[in-house]
Amino acid sequence: MSEKENIIICRCNDVTLKEIEELIEQGITDIEEIKRLTRIGMGPCQGRTCIPIVASIIARKTGKSYDEIGIPATRVPVRPVPMGVLVGDEDEE
Ligand code: FES
Repeated sequence: MSEKENIIICRCNDVTLKEIEELIEQGITDIEEIKRLTRIGMGPCQGRTCIPIVASIIARKTGKSYDEIGIPATRVPVRPVPMGVLVGDEDEE
C-alpha cells in the first residue's frame, strides 16, 4: 500500500489522497465532478473538512488559483431536522 493510500482526505466517506490525485491526473479537475464521483462533501460534516483540502490539491496539481476552483455550495437538509440531530445532542429525539 502506498503512502497516498493511507492519507484520508474525506474521513466521512474514506476517500484517499491517491483517489483524488488519480482523478485529477485523468483530467477531472472540476471539484463538483470529483464530488459526484467520490462523494466528498456528502458526509455528516458536509465537506467542511475535505472540500477545502481537495480544492488545495486541485490548485497544487493544476496551477489554478483557489478562486478559479470555487467551493461548492452547502445544501440544507430537504426535511426539517431537530437541532439536536445537527449538533449531536443525544437527549433530543
Ligand atoms: S470529511 Fe468529507 S464529507 Fe466530511
